[in-house]
Amino acid sequence: MSCFLQAQMAGHSQFATLMFCLAAFVGLSQAQLQLGFYAKSCPKSEKIIQDYVNEHIPNAPSLAATLIRMHFHDCFVRGCDGSVLLNSSSNQAEKDAPPNLTVRGFDFIDRLKTLLEAECPGVVSCADIIALAARDSIVKTGGPFWKVPTGRRDGVISRLAEANNSIPPPFGNFTTLQTLFANQGLDLKDLVLLSGKLKKCTNPNDTTTIVEMDPGSRNTFDLSYYTLVLKRRGLFESDSALLTNSFTKSLITQLLQGSLQNFYTEFALSMEKMGRINVKTGSQGEIRKQCAVVNS
Ligand code: HEM
Ligand SMILES: *[C@@H]1O[C@H](CO)[C@@H](O)[C@H](O)[C@H]1NC(C)=O
Ligand SMILES: *[C@@H]1O[C@H](CO)[C@@H](O)[C@H](O)[C@H]1NC(C)=O
Ligand SMILES: *[C@@H]1O[C@H](CO)[C@@H](O)[C@H](O)[C@H]1NC(C)=O
Ligand SMILES: *[C@@H]1O[C@H](CO)[C@@H](O)[C@H](O)[C@H]1NC(C)=O
Ligand SMILES: *[C@@H]1O[C@H](CO)[C@@H](O)[C@H](O)[C@H]1NC(C)=O
Repeated sequence: MSCFLQAQMAGHSQFATLMFCLAAFVGLSQAQLQLGFYAKSCPKSEKIIQDYVNEHIPNAPSLAATLIRMHFHDCFVRGCDGSVLLNSSSNQAEKDAPPNLTVRGFDFIDRLKTLLEAECPGVVSCADIIALAARDSIVKTGGPFWKVPTGRRDGVISRLAEANNSIPPPFGNFTTLQTLFANQGLDLKDLVLLSGKLKKCTNPNDTTTIVEMDPGSRNTFDLSYYTLVLKRRGLFESDSALLTNSFTKSLITQLLQGSLQNFYTEFALSMEKMGRINVKTGSQGEIRKQCAVVNS
């Protein structure tokens, strides 16, 4: 807006300035994700993903957790650009880092990609497929909905060492968690909200016992995570770390005093924010033909 005013007040001599401002404005709007980015280029794409998720997730509800975690891991390394899906080539890829996203998760995305390539070849990015499949599968298992604007492009680089340095470790202290989230433009509120999803919990009294909260049950995605954190029960060090800071501790208390709907609303905002981390748009990156390899 100030661009236009400036140029108008300065008159015709500033025509070049106006053109420059317009170009900058267009460039800026291209760089944004948008809801229904594929509405014209592949109108059925989001429906294809949703239908496939709705058909297959009930038979494998634990995949919902795998997929949202895959989206998180994708976004935290080089932005949400599908780099988490790349196979190792000359260098070891993120995929080969210890956090194991399971072969099933990768297969699931590959099968979606095959359907979308059959519908509209070379249009829908692997990064968007992860983002949409994660959201749809959490919704299908009774969890919250969040908006997934699309238009992410796929990256061409995946490095194991970067996964090691960007993904928060389960033994991370508060400073480590805060820093790794801040590196992604996420704040302490996002840290608390995004920690509150379904997760496998290890009881420190019995490290052989893995208590998996069943993502298939309707009540999985509730506030019980925060209750457990406050009771210091069955969690990772990174979870207890949220109590060592007064801001995050009081946020947890507030979330527990609020409604499940309030948590869902806040969680949705943080998920949308996470889904925008360092996205590649416009002519950046590429639309991979196969999610596991860059185009040749
Ligand atoms: C705050 C920092 C985080 C740490 C330290 C962390 C750490 C972990 C660890 C160690 C596991 C167990 C993996 C296993 O059982 O093999 C796990 C599981 C999980 N994490 Fe996180 N995580 C964090 C944030 C997130 C975020 C932001 C999300 C998604 C929004 C997420 C989603 C999940 C899910 C869904 C699982 C269960 C995976 C499954 O059962 O397949 N985590 N996390
Ligand atoms: C990853 O997890 C799956 C399923 O739990 C397991 O079959 C596979 O061997 C694991 N892969 C690695 C590299 O740990
Ligand atoms: C990544 O971390 C794992 C253990 O968390 C370690 O075994 C591996 O050597 C690390 N790799 C790199 C390249 O830092
Ligand atoms: C947190 O962990 C980091 C990395 O392990 C360490 O360098 C730092 O001293 C720790 N901070 C606190 C306050 O314990
Ligand atoms: C572990 O054991 C201690 C002592 O019996 C108990 O106070 C604590 O609540 C237990 N923690 C968990 C996670 O069950
Ligand atoms: C990627 O790696 C997996 C596991 O090693 C393999 O099964 C798959 O065929 C590879 N995908 C491509 C496109 O090379």
